[in-house]
Amino acid sequence: MNNAFLKDTLSSLSSTPKTLSSRYFYDAIGDGIFQEIMQMKEYYLPACELEIIKNKTKDISEEIESEKIDVIELGAGDGTKAVYFLKALMDVGKEITYIPLDISDNVLKINKEHISSQLPGLKIEPIAGDYFETMKALKERNNPKLILFMGSNIGNFKDEKAVDFLKLVKSYMTAGDALLVGADLKKNPKTILAAYNDQAGITKRFNLNLLTRMNRELGANFVVKNFDHYAFYDPASGTTYSYIVSLEKQDVNIADKTFHFEKNECIHTEVSQKYSIADLEKLSSDVGFKKFTPFLDNKGWFCLGLMA
Ligand SMILES: C[S@@+](CC[C@H](N)C(=O)[O-])C[C@H]1O[C@@H](n2cnc3c(N)ncnc32)[C@H](O)[C@@H]1O
Repeated sequence: MNNAFLKDTLSSLSSTPKTLSSRYFYDAIGDGIFQEIMQMKEYYLPACELEIIKNKTKDISEEIESEKIDVIELGAGDGTKAVYFLKALMDVGKEITYIPLDISDNVLKINKEHISSQLPGLKIEPIAGDYFETMKALKERNNPKLILFMGSNIGNFKDEKAVDFLKLVKSYMTAGDALLVGADLKKNPKTILAAYNDQAGITKRFNLNLLTRMNRELGANFVVKNFDHYAFYDPASGTTYSYIVSLEKQDVNIADKTFHFEKNECIHTEVSQKYSIADLEKLSSDVGFKKFTPFLDNKGWFCLGLMA
């Protein structure tokens, strides 16, 4: 049994209101559904980020002096976008080692296979595990580092938690290193909401997969059809919230505990924070970086922000 998953689940479902940690979305099934999300027409984020990578990686690389760099990607996922970034760096003559970090062993295998098939000469050294732990390995690396935190992953940390997370990342950086953060920008609220509430119900499957995962890995007895997905975007704070809604009054057993759900009770599963460029500049300076350089797509929907 996955003890950390059990411990976190029992504690987060005992809180008021109930929550579940978004880090547990990514089992092999969740990885697959997230790959479907990245293909959804409503989920504009990957296309915007890829456009920036394709058009601006050369400009980004000019900000990094060293020819030899370790490219470390936090929460790397399947590498579909990173491969374009890495190729563009190699094309401008950078000598790189790619170190993808992800909690999902499964997605790291997909990542390595995909990237090594596209870039056969590239050194790839994946590290599986929770990046709060695996990041410690960065201290031992001697080459200048470019740390990637793409895919709007930063949006999963709200307010001070984002500052604290980036401060932790910065504590593993030395002079000459840089951090590239992919952040989703504030825009028409309907465009944002649709990305988390697609018509085909793929995001719903992704969110409810947490329940299926608890049934399989923790021996829980959620009746998945008795739950629904709910997302909303608050334009005032720029935050998207995702919930699992209990459609009935019901009890669910996990290990030797029973959890009671009222009809329409919501379990909070994820936030996705949206930023303005000014918000990102402030984030960068609150973390203690001296320089912030934004790179945007043509629509101005997404930003790769270089912090150094
Ligand atoms: C939203 S996906 C983004 C993937 C990729 N960066 C991209 O831009 O396509 C988030 C990734 O972060 C990983 N992840 C989530 N929480 C993590 C943690 N605590 N430690 C390491 N990886 C984590 C997930 O497994 C998943 O692959």
